[in-house]
Amino acid sequence: MRKLSAALCMVALFAFVSGAMAQFGNKVADTPHNLRKATTDGMPVEDYGEICVYCHTPHSANTNIEAPLWNRETPVSQYTMYSSPTIDMTMANSAQGVSLACLSCHDGSIALDQLINVPSAYSGTGPSGTTIETCATQCHTGSNPAGGINFEGTFLGTDLSNDHPISITYDPTKDPKFKPASNGMIDVLPLYGAGKDQVECATCHNPHDNSTRPFLRKDNTNSALCLTCHDI
Ligand code: HEC
Ligand code: HEC
Ligand code: HEC
Ligand code: HEC
Repeated sequence: MRKLSAALCMVALFAFVSGAMAQFGNKVADTPHNLRKATTDGMPVEDYGEICVYCHTPHSANTNIEAPLWNRETPVSQYTMYSSPTIDMTMANSAQGVSLACLSCHDGSIALDQLINVPSAYSGTGPSGTTIETCATQCHTGSNPAGGINFEGTFLGTDLSNDHPISITYDPTKDPKFKPASNGMIDVLPLYGAGKDQVECATCHNPHDNSTRPFLRKDNTNSALCLTCHDI
């Protein structure tokens, strides 16, 4: 009896660990950015039968956003940017570039399943209209579908004043407490924009790879991610 329950425990533990692992893979399919998976996890998002389609389309893409073959509209939100008297570098007065790609889901203004092009093989009833805000308040209450994983902070809204600065020109000449950039990169972190000098959401996050959660381009143990840029 004891052996049996130990075995059952192992099975339950394995199911829990593999359920959690499925969220933290290094492929889009095994991350929360697999919106098909979201449907099976209890998030009411329309299933278009594909994974990339929630963000990319092969044709007629939105070219106003700095993300390749983008399949989502540009959010029209006006963002409140970070501000501080000790900021030395130049910040845009609203979010720009690839950050708008992230915010097209993460500010909650556009439904997760509201796409420019749906696959021609798809024959369903269309978008459910679920936004990331709905998810923050409804999908993750009670028993968490992802096995106790806390997604509370995924809805950023349009007030970015309490978030790390984005759409800011990385310019160590204006503050010596920063490390140099080289060819649009600071170590493994890419800068964006026409001049390849903008810090945006995708500088710190890789939307395809959640093996260093949450979608980080670099592990932040001992603040290694922060210290890639800050020389402090
Ligand atoms: C949740 C949104 C999202 C999903 C889903 C997604 N991508 Fe992306 N992808 C992005 C964003 C944002 C960028 C631009 C940022 C960057 O360059 O990393 C990007 C960039 C890319 C790039 C160019 C940069 C690079 O990393 O090579 C390719 C290629 C790409 N995606 C392919 C795919 C494919 C294939 C899939 C499906 C398996 C996919 N993406 C799923 C958001 C997504
Ligand atoms: C198609 C919509 C969509 C786009 C575009 C998108 N995300 Fe997400 N993201 C989601 C959803 C849905 C979740 C899971 C939210 C939840 O369960 O509350 C998520 C979760 C996350 C998480 C938390 C992951 C974890 O394991 O805790 C991070 C970080 C994140 N996204 C960053 C980004 C960044 C940065 C971009 C742009 C480069 C981006 N996302 C683009 C839909 C999107
Ligand atoms: C300077 C680096 C940096 C930038 C720029 C940045 N992030 Fe993050 N982000 C982080 C780190 C580090 C964490 C993990 C924080 C933690 O572990 O508590 C994080 C966490 C998150 C989470 C998960 C919150 C949660 O509680 O689940 C989301 C979603 C997210 N970021 C989205 C974004 C979006 C969207 C942008 C652009 C508007 C952005 N990030 C810009 C470094 C950054
Ligand atoms: C990609 C480079 C980069 C990374 C990574 C990064 N930062 Fe920053 N950070 C900046 C830039 C650029 C500024 C704006 C500095 C300025 O204008 O003086 C900034 C500003 C800040 C500020 C506000 C300073 C002020 O004067 O108001 C704080 C605090 C901060 N970062 C902390 C962090 C922390 C903590 C992390 C890690 C979680 C981090 N940063 C990761 C580039 C980065």
